[in-house]
Amino acid sequence: MKEQTLSIVKPDAVADGKFGSILQAIEDSGLRVVAARMLQLTRKQAEGFYEVHQERPFFGSLVEFMTSGPVIVSVLEGENAIPTYRKLMGATNPDEADEGTLRKRFAKDIEKNAVHGSDSAENAAIEIAYFFRAIDLVDRGI
Ligand code: CMP
Repeated sequence: MKEQTLSIVKPDAVADGKFGSILQAIEDSGLRVVAARMLQLTRKQAEGFYEVHQERPFFGSLVEFMTSGPVIVSVLEGENAIPTYRKLMGATNPDEADEGTLRKRFAKDIEKNAVHGSDSAENAAIEIAYFFRAIDLVDRGI
């Protein structure tokens, strides 16, 4: 099933110059970028994006981190894009991530974990609409 998912390359990975390697791994997995943008999240934008986590003890620190530098948001498209990208990212905690996954390769810890990917079709639709309009998405012919 063809799906779309939202990816964020987080401030730690952008600052470390890892965007190129992450993009390469994404395209090598067969997924295609159909929209991309670099931006520095405001506090309000980061709080809104992670609203579901607002009661968690790590929420304040997460918002602080996500606003600490530029991020690259993109929409990835392909067969089963949501689970495919989650597999490529690896576990949230890099200590638990499989060898070769993006978080094993690039994450610093459970918070500064290099990348974000949507966890369900419902959330993918919400997260994509948070950053992109339908007109921003291109047709990569897949
Ligand atoms: P992400 O997949 O973007 O979803 C929520 C984010 O919160 C997660 O990646 C981490 O960056 C962060 N996070 C999740 N669990 C913890 C935790 N236990 N401690 C600190 N940060 C966390």
